[in-house]
Amino acid sequence: MLVSAKEMLEKAHKEGYGVAQININNLEWTKAVLEVVEELKSPVILGVSEGASKYMGGYGTVVAMVKALDKFYHVSVPVAIHLDHGTYEGAFKALEAGYTSIMFDGSSYPFAENLAKTKEVVAACHAKGVSVEAEVGAIGGEEDGVIGLGEVADPEECRQIAATGVDMFAAGIGNIHGKYPDNWPGLRFDVLEAVKKVTGNVPLVLHGGTGIPADQVKKAISMGVSKVNVNTELQLAFAEATRKYIEAGKDRIGKGFDPRKLLAPGTEAAKQVVREKLEMFGSIGKA
Ligand code: 13P
Repeated sequence: MLVSAKEMLEKAHKEGYGVAQININNLEWTKAVLEVVEELKSPVILGVSEGASKYMGGYGTVVAMVKALDKFYHVSVPVAIHLDHGTYEGAFKALEAGYTSIMFDGSSYPFAENLAKTKEVVAACHAKGVSVEAEVGAIGGEEDGVIGLGEVADPEECRQIAATGVDMFAAGIGNIHGKYPDNWPGLRFDVLEAVKKVTGNVPLVLHGGTGIPADQVKKAISMGVSKVNVNTELQLAFAEATRKYIEAGKDRIGKGFDPRKLLAPGTEAAKQVVREKLEMFGSIGKA
């Protein structure tokens, strides 16, 4: 059931669990996520970056594919198609194409511009019943082999962006995309607490869900995080299972080279990661 992310996050925020945003990259990923959430009766947000949208053949293709699979699998749980880290232009294009939720990531703009553009995106999306996520304090990650430790958001900026009427809000609290370096000091719960104080009832989003220890994720959820984003962990699991299949020479046995066979172990491994995350975030049976 395709819906905006607004109600599912309000419910999660009220009841104290987290909704997973699982990023999709192709048909296999999308099937994997939809099958698991239906089986476990969990709401879900399908995250689609602009790069992934382009890879899959554009925003329209993504919407058509998810809608068709939703129907094919008789998905009864709430599912949102969410633009992940959208640019200003991308936000409007994805909205036009039928995404049910949009993240406008204005964190790289000077603050006043982030605020002004977020307001415009909120007005356009809310006119169509589409939910909006905004961000303050860029979430770092690996760039050219250098791993940034992630910015920490300024609470006053968070207060102003949250007051634009966004439906969910991402603040940098020392989290980063991709694998965490060995010397990562952990999430900044002091910053999370300060952000929560000024953003009130707006559900918070934790990016960079790959590799954050379960106890830290659960603590963040107990402090007002209602959406946790996971991408890299599925990719790692998929790659590892596919490597094993090929290293065992299975692609050379019978019709083992058929993509329906070749991609099956990786897809199953990705499904297992989704199950683990839903369990960790507490959203099983909440749909
Ligand atoms: P990871 O790739 O680190 O799981 O982060 C995903 C994410 O935050 C997408 O916005």
